[in-house]
Amino acid sequence: MKADVLLGLQWGDEGKGKVVDVLTPKYDIIARFQGGPNAGHTLEFEGIKHVLHTIPSGIFRSNKQNVVGNGVVIDPIIFKKEIDALQVHQVDVHAALKLSRKAHLILPTHRMLDAASEQAKGTKKIGSTLKGIGPTYMDKTGRNGLRIGDTENDNFKTLYEQLRNKHYEMLKKMEFDTSELPKMEKEWFNGIDFIKTIQLIDSEHYINNSLNAGQRVLAEGAQGSMLDIDFGSYPYVTSSNTICAGSCTGLGVPPSKIGDVFGIFKAYCTRVGSGPFPTELFNDTGKEIAKIGNEFGATTGRPRRCGWLDIPALKYAVMLNGVTHLIMTKADVLSGFKEIQVCTHYKYRGEVIDFFPYDIQNFGAEPIFKKFKGWGEDLRTLKSYEDFPESFKIYVSFLEKELGVPITMISTGPDRKDTLVRDEAILN
Ligand code: GDP
Ligand code: IMO
Ligand code: MG
Repeated sequence: MKADVLLGLQWGDEGKGKVVDVLTPKYDIIARFQGGPNAGHTLEFEGIKHVLHTIPSGIFRSNKQNVVGNGVVIDPIIFKKEIDALQVHQVDVHAALKLSRKAHLILPTHRMLDAASEQAKGTKKIGSTLKGIGPTYMDKTGRNGLRIGDTENDNFKTLYEQLRNKHYEMLKKMEFDTSELPKMEKEWFNGIDFIKTIQLIDSEHYINNSLNAGQRVLAEGAQGSMLDIDFGSYPYVTSSNTICAGSCTGLGVPPSKIGDVFGIFKAYCTRVGSGPFPTELFNDTGKEIAKIGNEFGATTGRPRRCGWLDIPALKYAVMLNGVTHLIMTKADVLSGFKEIQVCTHYKYRGEVIDFFPYDIQNFGAEPIFKKFKGWGEDLRTLKSYEDFPESFKIYVSFLEKELGVPITMISTGPDRKDTLVRDEAILN
């Protein structure tokens, strides 16, 4: 079998958690491949809303395995809290969850270094979630990191102290207040003790053996393609490869074993944190979208910046990921707007272009919009695509033509039931 991949095509928060939950019945294994607790993946069903940070969004479906891959970074404090919240809902995490020994650990001092780095950047701050993501991946690529597998070594505490002390010196130089550290360390080691009770695996072997045995695997991405460390609007990005290639390095799946790629996008755009956002709306329409779409970060609670859909950016993401199926979410949010706009081109350095260029931070990218007639109907109540308003269908057909990939699923609300499948094949 080949592993399918599901990922966000914009700046994150496209609704990945919801869609993974909808698709999980078809799979045996759901595996996160990058990012960490900077992610907030929301699922809603039976009137309850759940937000997952490190744990794959297949965890609520019975008889599925959920794997946290080697590409993920784990904060034991947040991880334990997340699991405590799941146990209230009778989720048997000890049976349904496996952690890669090669996943890196976020130390309390990584979080402090994240905050210190943001402070030092002043107005140029990234707007990081302050979960320690950047510093942890820096230690990974700098070959200093601690991994989940290290917790099985007798000298783990010494390894921890060596890295902590190194960070401590750095924090001292940055004049960062470390008085909270002893308290955080106590909680962190409690988290480590808890992690030792979870199944630790060599996930690259597990995933490949499972594929060879005919099991079906869905790789779940975090963040979005426009936050990718290589291809996003650097430096206003996260510190991992969020694109499809990240699922190969983050799980050990060879490129020849990647199957379908589900690219998720909102019917408009949002971004949280700093960085360029060509279609951002600073007017009442932007505020209205934020209000109707309830656009507040699932991890930090920060308001999300809102704007119209950006085709050059989406085309770029479709290209980088080799998307085979598009999934549109939050289509319901646009109901009631008289007019809907879509950016088709940018004015960039005096020219009109239709692709995502190198440096929109310094040179700017002025959006050129195409206008569409809106629709008034509440999409949530509609059961068949035929019943959807004509102006909505025109919007969808336009996007399919521009992006060259079919939109096979449309999400019309946060609940797993609010989902319209246009091509039943994606469920089988
Ligand atoms: P993720 O990070 O990609 O998993 O997305 P988030 O969970 O951070 O943000 C998506 C938000 O939109 C969550 O609050 C979801 O419950 C909600 N959501 C997902 N799909 C839809 C949809 O089709 N319509 C509406 N109105 N809300 C949705
Ligand atoms: P999910 O998986 C939206 C943003 C932060 C910041 C930048 C860097 O829920 O879609 P970091 O903490 O990674 O160093 O922050 O990336 N960011 C996200 N934005 N959704 C996310 O995850 C994000 N994870 C990080 O706001 O701009
Ligand atoms: Mg999110």
